[in-house]
Amino acid sequence: MLTRRPHGSTRMPRSSRKRNITAITLLLFGTLILVICLCEDFIDPHIFSFQIDVRKDDSQTKPPMKVNSYVYSWPRCQQNMSAANVNGFSSLPDGVKDFLYYQHCRHFPMLLDLPDKCGGADKSAEVFLLLVIKSSPVNYERREVLRKTWAKDRLYNGVWIRRIFISGTMDSGFEKERLNKLLELEQHEHNDILQWDFHDTFFNLTLKQILFLEWMERNCPNARFLLNGDDDVFANTDNMVTYLQSLKDNDGSKHLFAGHLIQNQGPVRWAGSKYYVPVQVQKSDSYPPYCGGGGFLLSGYTAFVIYNMSQSIPIHPIDDVYMGMCLAKAGLSPVSHLGVRTLGWHIPSSKVDGYDPCFYKEVLLVHRFLPAQMYLVWHRIHDRNLKCGGSMISNCNF
Ligand SMILES: *[C@@H]1O[C@H](CO)[C@@H](O)[C@H](O)[C@H]1NC(C)=O
Ligand SMILES: *[C@@H]1O[C@H](CO)[C@@H](O)[C@H](O)[C@H]1NC(C)=O
Ligand SMILES: *[C@@H]1O[C@H](CO)[C@@H](O)[C@H](O)[C@H]1NC(C)=O
Repeated sequence: MLTRRPHGSTRMPRSSRKRNITAITLLLFGTLILVICLCEDFIDPHIFSFQIDVRKDDSQTKPPMKVNSYVYSWPRCQQNMSAANVNGFSSLPDGVKDFLYYQHCRHFPMLLDLPDKCGGADKSAEVFLLLVIKSSPVNYERREVLRKTWAKDRLYNGVWIRRIFISGTMDSGFEKERLNKLLELEQHEHNDILQWDFHDTFFNLTLKQILFLEWMERNCPNARFLLNGDDDVFANTDNMVTYLQSLKDNDGSKHLFAGHLIQNQGPVRWAGSKYYVPVQVQKSDSYPPYCGGGGFLLSGYTAFVIYNMSQSIPIHPIDDVYMGMCLAKAGLSPVSHLGVRTLGWHIPSSKVDGYDPCFYKEVLLVHRFLPAQMYLVWHRIHDRNLKCGGSMISNCNF
């Protein structure tokens, strides 16, 4: 296993700015992180994204460089047939059966790689905020709009934001090939996709997460912070950078795991639910504290610790819960930020436009946006003429 390099040596001098920054921190604290869910469905992880400009010139002609060739050629992981011997196996839903058959599988061949996304492992400290967006192959429109809006690869406030989408495969036969071809085309144009050859299902999202962390340790070990989230959230990445820069430890070398905190929950035992986790998967009736998977922020240090812990924790099908398990094992806690809500976005009256840009100027993350709304709101919050009276957020009931 690689060891994480110490942070700080290659970082911009920022210590002199720290005090001023600390002063505005408290202000930002209350308003910056806000995870709002416009729907009921609050644990719904879906995408990661990243973008690289490296190799853009010859990207039309050359396939992605394969510098870590061993990751491209894992033998097919075999189904664990004795999983079927557990009590009551035959009455479990197919998704759960599948999960149990393949729970032990942690390595799959890579189809699309981004070895230079962070400028190589050595230069990866220059990435301040890595956007890691879970995206299924079919979600082309979502990726396209994110590339043009909050997930744009860019320099903001003097630091780099980079985007990576993480994906598996879908369907089989020519349908699978067609979607793979689509991702390959996108990769040639945008250089922002990591894809592995496993079935991209809800219960495989933890696997996706672990594969990403393994990739990160190899290719981007010193990125300062990560936003881990879905491809249907609206993330105010400008505000995230400002918020992260305002932290006392803003070089990613200390523990940070922040989002919509969920506590005192346990597995859903109702078989009809998307989140159904039967006793055959988890006996215990409780989950450790975790942050809703729609979007959470973490430091590079914490990503590394989670990856390390994951090596000795069996895969749990709900990916955000699994992050909580890894944190708990490391003795670390996720934190909630004031205003981080996944459930409570309540627009005070039907006369108020739920997509009023003033709502989104102050937030960090809002769950569930359609591509067109994403595009519109992102542009409207950057409109120099936008005038917002006071805090829209504080006028809302959560
Ligand atoms: C296969 O499943 C059985 C029953 O759940 C379990 O005891 C065993 O450890 C599993 N094997 C692997 C390789 O995961
Ligand atoms: C996860 O992916 C593997 C490899 O494609 C697949 O065999 C398995 O059925 C998937 N698991 C679930 C729960 O979908
Ligand atoms: C990684 O985990 C192992 C135990 O699983 C522990 O001994 C080691 O110190 C950890 N490394 C770091 C850097 O956390």
